[in-house]
Amino acid sequence: MSHAESIVENLTTAVVVADAALRLQAVNPAGEMLFELSAKQMVGQQLERLWPQTTPLAGLFADTLQTAHSFTRRGLPLPLPGREVIVDMTVTAMLAGAPGTCGAALLLELNQVDRLRRLAQEEELVDRHLAQRAVVRGLAHEIKNPLGGLRGAAQLLERKLSETEREYTRIIIREADRLQGLVDRLAGPTRPYLQAQVNIHQILEHVRSLILAEVGEGIVLRRDYDPSIPEFPGDPDQLVQAALNLVRNAVQAPSRTVILRSRIERQFTIGQRRHKLVLRAEVEDDGPGVPPALRDTLFYPMVTGHAAGTGLGLSIAQDIARRHGGLIEYTSRPSRTVFTLFLPLRPEL
Ligand SMILES: Nc1ncnc2c1ncn2[C@@H]1O[C@H](COP(=O)(O)OP(=O)(O)O)[C@@H](O)[C@H]1O
Ligand SMILES: [Mg+2]
Repeated sequence: MSHAESIVENLTTAVVVADAALRLQAVNPAGEMLFELSAKQMVGQQLERLWPQTTPLAGLFADTLQTAHSFTRRGLPLPLPGREVIVDMTVTAMLAGAPGTCGAALLLELNQVDRLRRLAQEEELVDRHLAQRAVVRGLAHEIKNPLGGLRGAAQLLERKLSETEREYTRIIIREADRLQGLVDRLAGPTRPYLQAQVNIHQILEHVRSLILAEVGEGIVLRRDYDPSIPEFPGDPDQLVQAALNLVRNAVQAPSRTVILRSRIERQFTIGQRRHKLVLRAEVEDDGPGVPPALRDTLFYPMVTGHAAGTGLGLSIAQDIARRHGGLIEYTSRPSRTVFTLFLPLRPEL
């Protein structure tokens, strides 16, 4: 590979070259990642086949070839199968005879901007999450101590009471136990992170069977897995818990179809760290979407949109993701909500 080629290979900008007939001639790895297709699958395809819904662009491409005026579109929605990304796109004509080109050609540079915007938000999310976990853990600790005393005292008292009066101490004990359980869940997993080799599909399949047992026939749980995803170090029980919380929410949204998806991202940044290989596990549902009032505080504990909710599911799931060096993000609109768990496949914790 020449030096110039290796630069194009390593760009984070997706570069696509098309010929005068708007057939794709070449694409770099960033382009493969953006379209989630290999160069092999794309080369030779008509440009508009890649993103059919933006066919009106075909006219602009043709104009660019004719006039050799390049153009840039910012914030262009790019509807891809199963997802939509926002890109800045610059289209340049490389005219016949230009050195290194054979015939007229189009050069497309695509930058996924929603990912950049998300990155800034992500850092804030991580900061807020860490601060908030510290407060919650402290609070949980402060509640647990007196709670133990309260329960013990009720047990002692119980012995001195008649059978009918014991109903009261039983209430105290039962409620203390309930509160203890709540506080334990609030504090999140406290046992040390247990490291094993994790197969993400085993985790997702386990969660799938748990959910099917819970809700039965009322819901369609589809899978869309990339079977080539390697195992990675992690705590299987905690990851089941995190995925379960996400899938349960999707089912409770309520929705009719939930899709469990797995993909690999290359050269992906989580928080401040750039990783070579990152697992992207998604839970997509067709429910009504996250209530707008909750969007900014969704991952906080006790934030819930359900009357009987505890608002702990997402907070705990996010905590588990953080323990694995990962992160949970989401996008939501009516009939399409996606919660995405990013986990580094070779974490440095
Ligand atoms: N897939 C989803 N679709 C719509 N709303 C969601 C989804 N996931 C989470 N939410 C919203 O986020 C809130 C918080 O979720 P969570 O932390 O799991 O707590 P809980 O489920 O106990 O309410 C939910 O009550 C719901 O309003
Ligand atoms: Mg929940």
